[in-house]
Amino acid sequence: MSTMSDRTVLLLSGPNLNLLGEREPDIYGSATLDDHLAGATAAATARGLTLEHVQSNHEGELVDAIHDARGRCAGIVVNPGAFTHYAWAIHDALAAFDGPIVELHLSNPAAREPWRHTSVVAPVAAGTIAGFGAAGYRMAVEAVADLLDR
Ligand code: DQA
Repeated sequence: MSTMSDRTVLLLSGPNLNLLGEREPDIYGSATLDDHLAGATAAATARGLTLEHVQSNHEGELVDAIHDARGRCAGIVVNPGAFTHYAWAIHDALAAFDGPIVELHLSNPAAREPWRHTSVVAPVAAGTIAGFGAAGYRMAVEAVADLLDR
C-alpha cells in the first residue's frame, strides 16, 4: 500500500543556508532561512500543500532526506547551495524521486562566477527559479503546486 502524500512537499536547503541573514547579505539579502521558510509555508498552505523542511551542511544527510521523501512526498523544492555545482550524489538521489522537482536559488548563479554556471541538479529538475531573492521561495512553491495540479 502506498503511503504517498499527494500534498506534502519537501523543501531542502543545502550548506551555509543556515547562515542566511548574516552571510554575504549584499548577495543573499538580510532575511533568515526561517523567514524564507515562513514565506514558503504560507504559499504552500494557500495551495493546500503541507511543507516539510530539512537543512543540512552535509551532502549525505541531504541524500538521506531525498530517499526519505520517496513514496511519501509529492514534490521537492531544493536549494542545494554550493552542492548545486558538483554534488552528483544529490543528482542521483533526485533522479530516483518520482515527483516534480524545482531547483531554487536566491541569487542568479548564471550571472556570477563561472564555476557557478554548472548545475548538476538542473538535469533532474522540472525547472529552476533563480535570482528573485526571497520571492523565489513563494515562486518555487507555486511552481511545484502547478506541476502537481496538472
Ligand atoms: C545559492 C547559489 C550557490 O551558488 C551558492 O553556493 C549558495 C546559494 C543561492 O541560493 O543563490 O550557497 O544556492
